[in-house]
Amino acid sequence: MLDGKQGRARQRAMELLVQYGEALGAKRFIDTNNVHLLIGFHPYPEMVTTRDADELASKFLLDSEEKIIIDSIKAFNTTHIWAIDLERWQMMEAPEELHELMEMIRQYCIRTGVSITATCTPYQVGNIPMKGEHCAWTESSAVPFCNAVLGARTNTETAHSAFAIALTGKVPLSGFHIDENRFGTHLIHVEFDLENVFEWNMLGYFAGEMAQLGIPVYQLRGQRKPNLSMLKGLNAAGASSGGIQMYHIIGITPEAPSREVAFGYKKPIETLHYSKEERRQTYESLNSARDEKVDLINLGCPHYSLEQLREVSRLLNGKKVHENVHLWIWTAHQLKDIADRNGYTDLITKAGGHLLTDTCPLNTNLLPKGTKTIATDAAKQAHYAPAIAEVGVWFGTMEECIDCAVTGKWHGGLK
Ligand code: F3S
Repeated sequence: MLDGKQGRARQRAMELLVQYGEALGAKRFIDTNNVHLLIGFHPYPEMVTTRDADELASKFLLDSEEKIIIDSIKAFNTTHIWAIDLERWQMMEAPEELHELMEMIRQYCIRTGVSITATCTPYQVGNIPMKGEHCAWTESSAVPFCNAVLGARTNTETAHSAFAIALTGKVPLSGFHIDENRFGTHLIHVEFDLENVFEWNMLGYFAGEMAQLGIPVYQLRGQRKPNLSMLKGLNAAGASSGGIQMYHIIGITPEAPSREVAFGYKKPIETLHYSKEERRQTYESLNSARDEKVDLINLGCPHYSLEQLREVSRLLNGKKVHENVHLWIWTAHQLKDIADRNGYTDLITKAGGHLLTDTCPLNTNLLPKGTKTIATDAAKQAHYAPAIAEVGVWFGTMEECIDCAVTGKWHGGLK
């Protein structure tokens, strides 16, 4: 590839990967056939002056002034969120130019063999790598799902590295691809049962703050086991307050049949306790709003699961969203299709809410005009929104968020 025998595109991608691999200290490459790309979300749309997709991809993804034409992407792939809801972008009041840019990238993806899934939860829409499978995923909340929940292997890739890896099917052997780097570092005793997504969000947020780039090993005391929606919350929260990319839950996740195995028969570097006191402190740090009047209720971070869509639609059944409030619920468009067929979307829209797909307003910063306070059931939103969107945030349960959507006021609190 490096000598150009497989074309200029693979040559350029390999040049970048060699530099990347050297920076990581990798001794060799390994094969991958599973990449979660970041291609439809452009972080600086105002910098894009071209309407030539090949030129754009060459400049921004291959770091090349020379226009490189790509015939096809080698590896199986999915795509992370895009910059707008590709169908309901006008409802989001997204600018026409952004829609045009997305349309151009969409055509490029179709031509080159990129699978447009447009979600931060590829594992909810058919990208479920096997235990031990080497992958290259973007998106901080998806990476721990790949590593910890599925037992597959990925580092947190960038838009650029993932693109080069997808083009070549090669990933540097480093980080979480290597057995020794997957063992636990911090033991966390969870002192009480975690009953819902809200509680798992807070545990993840606590763990991220304490372990930062470490690998927490959770020892559950209670009987309750997490489900997909709960682990989704745990992953996103831990990757927000810290940089958790891998963790173990003893007796639950695939590489932790016992504490000893989870730690690779070594001692934890730190032992922590998550009791009601740590829970209270975490809750307080996540609530930055002061005004009980809320402008936007933003749910679906990471993109809501089918279970959450069903639950939220039932909570909204027969209710009306307050006239001063926007209710935005985010999911993957593949799951929206199921929600449409089952009447969940109808219940949400009849109540005055919107079920949206493909993006999330935090990344695009396309909040309804005048939004000062938002309510959410996601620690990740509560963590980033104050800085990114300059809003106050109430963090609570899905039930509290729906109560807020109906009354226009926040009545939540730690029970
Ligand atoms: Fe997904 Fe956006 Fe949250 S990308 S994880 S909904 S911040």
